[in-house]
Amino acid sequence: MTKTTTRFGIIGTGRITRRLVADLQSTDHVAVTAIASRDAERARWYADQYGIENAVNGYDQLLARDDVDAVYVSLPPSMHAEWSIAAAESGRHVLCEKPLAMNLEQAKQIDTACRTHQVRWLDATGWLHHERSRAFEVWLLEQKFGKIGHISASVSFYEPFQSGDHRLDRSLGGGCLLDLAWYAGGLIVFASIDDLPISVQATAVMRGDVPIRVTALIKLSDDISATLSCGYDTATRKWFEIAGSKSSLICDDFTRPWTERPTRCWIHDSTGSVESHTFEGNQERNMIERLIGDEDLTPLHQQALQTQALLDAIDRSLQQGGQSVEVEGV
Ligand SMILES: NC(=O)c1ccc[n+]([C@@H]2O[C@H](COP(=O)([O-])OP(=O)(O)OC[C@H]3O[C@@H](n4cnc5c(N)ncnc54)[C@H](OP(=O)(O)O)[C@@H]3O)[C@@H](O)[C@H]2O)c1
Repeated sequence: MTKTTTRFGIIGTGRITRRLVADLQSTDHVAVTAIASRDAERARWYADQYGIENAVNGYDQLLARDDVDAVYVSLPPSMHAEWSIAAAESGRHVLCEKPLAMNLEQAKQIDTACRTHQVRWLDATGWLHHERSRAFEVWLLEQKFGKIGHISASVSFYEPFQSGDHRLDRSLGGGCLLDLAWYAGGLIVFASIDDLPISVQATAVMRGDVPIRVTALIKLSDDISATLSCGYDTATRKWFEIAGSKSSLICDDFTRPWTERPTRCWIHDSTGSVESHTFEGNQERNMIERLIGDEDLTPLHQQALQTQALLDAIDRSLQQGGQSVEVEGV
């Protein structure tokens, strides 16, 4: 895309839109022209709250407008594929909330639709775009920590949920597997570089038909393992450890830096010495700039599809009573 203004339309009025709309509005060469809801009054209310000129009744009406170049899909996971594909088919670039889709098949359909209609897409997984994550990648590629042996990632928050929260409704894509293992599994895919997950054994605590805690043991190669823990039953965790033969990289807020603290991480070696690093930057603005830029986004698409494949495998393992299952190659 050129550096003309990219005009975004917003689909959905959920809690996360407040933050992402502000990030869009504060990014150079971006304008937010319209927001759509299933309900006309709600669309108007949010448009007024966010300072968006046009309130639209119905998501399809947003896609019929001629002042929208890109769409931010901020809906429950079960609706991501439908509206991302509709946006692509109408010639709009797509920023879709995480998880990208309900499963790998849907995720591939989004990718194919965007390629077919020559539009750009990203899932809104902000942490991948922080300057800090670029440093993680460089360190992993230069083998700063020696040979990686184990990766562990934990993401959780403690309820309560708001009434009617889609996270507790399986038909809408609820449950911590899609919601939170998207981050923890994504970190494992990100850190695995060439040794992508091969097989998975998983266990879950269920509330009704929705997993509220998931634990998984993941094999990346004969000598690299990973563990994933996520759930709605422990206080907020958003951390990982990447353990190598020389040292371990530790980060306690990789999904989103704690507010009012420096964005940080630590490298611990075998003597107990600690190398601390801090970073500046806004991960969401970086993400938006990459979407509207001209960089080849294929590596980020692969990251999303491989994460979706890992979540599919965890789900299959859960369905099979915790048996080891293979992760589909992407
Ligand atoms: N990137 C992040 O940091 C981050 C953080 C939180 C959440 N998320 C993701 O963002 C997405 C939305 O999460 P959220 O917490 O903002 O969701 P939410 O508050 O439940 O809002 C979802 C929106 O979707 C629309 N919707 C359409 N059909 C619906 C249905 N049957 N039930 C409920 N809502 C429906 C509603 O808007 P209208 O009725 O007005 O059309 C609703 O406001 C999820 O995929 C979630 O995982 C991402």
